[in-house]
Amino acid sequence: MKTRVCIIGGGPSGLLLAQLLHLKGIDNVVLEKHSREYVLARIRAGVLEHGFAKLMREAQCGERMDREGEIHEGFFIADAGQLNRVDLHKYSGGSSVIVYGQTELTRDLYDARERMNGAVIHNAEDVQPHDLTSAAPYVTWRAGDEVKRIDCDFVIGADGFHGVSRKSIPRDVLREYEKVYPSGWLGVLSRTKPVSPELIYARHERGFALCSLRSQVLSRYYIQVPLSDTVEGWSDDAFWAELKRRLPAEVGARLQTGPSIEKSIAPLRSFVAEPMRYGNLFLAGDAAHIVPPTGARGLNSAASDIYYLYHALLAHYQRGDASGLEGYSAKALARVWKAQRFSWWMTMMLHTFPGSSDYDRKLQDTDLAYLFSSEAAMSSLAENYVGLPF
Ligand code: APR
Ligand code: PHB
Repeated sequence: MKTRVCIIGGGPSGLLLAQLLHLKGIDNVVLEKHSREYVLARIRAGVLEHGFAKLMREAQCGERMDREGEIHEGFFIADAGQLNRVDLHKYSGGSSVIVYGQTELTRDLYDARERMNGAVIHNAEDVQPHDLTSAAPYVTWRAGDEVKRIDCDFVIGADGFHGVSRKSIPRDVLREYEKVYPSGWLGVLSRTKPVSPELIYARHERGFALCSLRSQVLSRYYIQVPLSDTVEGWSDDAFWAELKRRLPAEVGARLQTGPSIEKSIAPLRSFVAEPMRYGNLFLAGDAAHIVPPTGARGLNSAASDIYYLYHALLAHYQRGDASGLEGYSAKALARVWKAQRFSWWMTMMLHTFPGSSDYDRKLQDTDLAYLFSSEAAMSSLAENYVGLPF
């Protein structure tokens, strides 16, 4: 097999790039380790920056997102029993975010690939890139007992944090930066009416909580838990009781509870791998960087990687201009680190971590007091949350 661009990973990053390139006549193949059903069973985040939404529309995959997604112009921060609203629309110069589940977005991307007979190879086992620093890289994988090979011009590592791509960069080239937080988020999806029309990020001495949603009949809630906790250790009743304890009384009183249809614990981690290019391998999305979900930056950081790669590959194939590819890593990392900073800041401001001191808590009090007393502070939060320019 031969293609121009071989994309390892059939998550949002890989599928979005595949769709954008296809529409410009740039041949590509996606190699996905798992089945489509397995990928679509993952419950992930649900807030899209306007930049990501614009890319989905350009990829001809934005129709259901625009029909079913909710435009949100603000969110709340709960602290000391009070709710304070962050007016994103006012402080971002009129922008907003779309609340639309990543699972649905990934489904839309898969449907578009299928509609256009896009090449997505599922259950590709032992995927391995080769000759990345040559002009003729190739990728092998196993389909059952048969070893397959595809020759290409470029390999895109969109295979997530646990993928093979980042590990294909030599140890003496790769630099990794990591901060692991001593907590995780226990998330629950329930077919209940959301407790609030807009998201509520709650700071509480017992731990952080988040009230989010997927639609007016599908709610998504999180509570911060110790890393030693397990999903099995949390009954639905225990989850709802703890969530209520961390919310202002008036919010807890109207919380509609119900059976969890999904329950999982995700660790909190900040991670960046540099460089995001090695020879003809380009890393994108979770393969290169991870953020704690507090700032809703995970998928949106992948969006700018895909935007830069898409335009760089377009320039290469349409105009013989390699400057975008040459400059990709530096350009992508500049925005990635800004998302890292914002996610770290939101996380440290709102979480009560084990071992945090009274001084730490006073800093959090001050951060929140400054935020709600300064237009400059509110504008800084808003411009990061709705999405810095690509
Ligand atoms: N070979 C082929 N595919 C692989 C391999 C491999 N060795 N390893 C992982 N994959 C696949 C995974 O099965 C997954 O479908 O790569 C895909 C990577 O998708 P994601 O992990 O979702 O990463 P990405 O597409 O960058 O999306 C980032 O996902 O995890 C969330 O918070 C994150 O919202 C962000 C988004
Ligand atoms: C979600 O809806 O899953 C969600 C929303 C905002 C976040 C994190 C997760 O910051």
